[in-house]
Amino acid sequence: MKHATNQGQNRVLRPLWWNAAAGRDGALEMIDQTRLPSELVTITCTTAAQVWEAIKQLRVRGAPAIGVAAAYGIVVGLDEAAPTDANWRVEMDKVCDFLATSRPTAVNLFWAIERMRRKGASLTVKSWADARAALLTEAHAIRDEDAAMCRAIGGFGQHLIPDGGGVLTHCNAGALATSEYGTALALMYAAHEKGRRFKVFVDETRPLLQGARLTAWELQRAGIDATLICDNMAAVVMREKKVNAVVTGADRIAANGDTANKIGTYGVAVLASAHGIPFYVAAPSSTFDLSIPDGSAIPIEYRDPAEVRRIGERTVAPEDIACYTPAFDVTPATLIAGIVTEKGLISPVSESAIRRMLAGAAQPSP
Ligand code: MRU
Repeated sequence: MKHATNQGQNRVLRPLWWNAAAGRDGALEMIDQTRLPSELVTITCTTAAQVWEAIKQLRVRGAPAIGVAAAYGIVVGLDEAAPTDANWRVEMDKVCDFLATSRPTAVNLFWAIERMRRKGASLTVKSWADARAALLTEAHAIRDEDAAMCRAIGGFGQHLIPDGGGVLTHCNAGALATSEYGTALALMYAAHEKGRRFKVFVDETRPLLQGARLTAWELQRAGIDATLICDNMAAVVMREKKVNAVVTGADRIAANGDTANKIGTYGVAVLASAHGIPFYVAAPSSTFDLSIPDGSAIPIEYRDPAEVRRIGERTVAPEDIACYTPAFDVTPATLIAGIVTEKGLISPVSESAIRRMLAGAAQPSP
């Protein structure tokens, strides 16, 4: 494995960070997740176009992580534009609008951009230098709060991981998909830290193999018992009673609890229901979009057909075959046994329970 990053084996796994010593005024650095697990390589972004490309190409991916990337990306884009004291607000609007076009489904991206815009609008400073300092502080706060939410999600959800049992997950909702620690995988990390022993079945997650490449790598690195399966094996491991619970992350949760997540999640939820296995979602409050009533209004990203025709670099289908390419699907709330948030577990899932939980203070962790 090639190591060219500050992520040593024993350090907390973080997919992105601000490096004050990079570039002219500091820069956004991240693990290039497209190269994992064979190479652990850091890339440095000093332009808005580089941040946009990194999000679009899934060098940084996972709903919370792309929100954090966009927050830092706004500072990067403004540094690149070198605005004056008079025009930084205009330049900031342009960078925000641009980064918002990178990917459509994960609401955390728009949530973070809106939060940065609100911070910018609230500033009464006279100089761009002071505004920049405040915006960078806000981006750090978004990162740090996300890390804290992930730890809290782990605390609230760890009891759902049964000692001696099995759990199945889809895609990657781990440290790599957040600031650190993850959402779905946070439950597993927290249960593991409590000394519980369990096995995780990791769906490979075609077409881009986030399960095989990222979740398998993360869990192995953490010393958690993980078994990789092809997506079409999920039904069998459930029928063989190897799975006691399914836990996934989310990209956007509508007011009624309908949840968009990586393509294939809906199928896993249907299978879990057919086998009487509880299906849980783990997500911070920044993943909820209470402005839309149900999942039918969630914008779904469609990607390049080449990603379906290929496995890694290798084309495995006729070059010109038509492909269907949704990157996400929506699991109806009726199939979800509970949603673990940083404030507590929402179960059963209903619009009123969601609104109550998000509006309230955190419950004591079990
Ligand atoms: O296309 P990706 O890799 O960004 O999709 C990621 C997922 O679907 C994750 O499950 C989701 O963003 C939750 S991450 C905590």
